Amino acid sequence: MKSKEIVIIEPGTKAEFEKYYNLRWRILRQPWNQPRGSEKDNKEDESIHIMVVHNDQVIGCGRGHFNSPIEAQIRYMAVEKSCQGKGVGTKILKSLERKLIEKGVRTIILNARENAVKFYKKHNYKMIGEGHTLFGVIKHFKMRKEI
Ligand SMILES: CC(C)(COP(=O)(O)OP(=O)(O)OC[C@H]1O[C@@H](n2cnc3c(N)ncnc32)[C@H](O)[C@@H]1OP(=O)(O)O)[C@@H](O)C(=O)NCCC(=O)NCCS
Repeated sequence: MKSKEIVIIEPGTKAEFEKYYNLRWRILRQPWNQPRGSEKDNKEDESIHIMVVHNDQVIGCGRGHFNSPIEAQIRYMAVEKSCQGKGVGTKILKSLERKLIEKGVRTIILNARENAVKFYKKHNYKMIGEGHTLFGVIKHFKMRKEI
């Protein structure tokens, strides 16, 4: 994982996975005082993982898992705060979508945090309803994209 350029890869080594989960935790869990480990669920081993690396630092990550052979769900999209709004999230989302479609997926669903709804709308996800509220404060919306 040596690069001065921006590269998009699937984490493979233990060290890469550590950096990948660390970014997930720092962006999606730490600000709400959630412990390490809370950034993972029981679908990690069967999921597609994508991360963006710049200057050997992981600056973005995202995950796709299968709900059925034709429906996938995207979770844990996170971009380093100082790198947000510069197209990194778009690279991750497009890469995940491409890999999921290659595997036969026809529908992608996700639960978007309120702050990320515009981002997903830009990528043609449609709002289909309200979702859960995480940690008592982060409102989510269910979104879906038909391929
Ligand atoms: C949501 C997130 C993954 C998007 O990644 P990003 O790299 O910031 O997004 P991009 O730069 O690729 O954005 C693409 C477009 O969406 C828009 N966008 C991104 N985040 C936005 C936001 N919070 N509000 C409004 N628009 C947003 C951008 O303006 C951009 O549009 P443009 O091309 O017209 O300028 C990232 O901002 C993030 O990690 N946010 C905090 C964690 C989070 O909420 N994760 C999502 C969990 S569901």
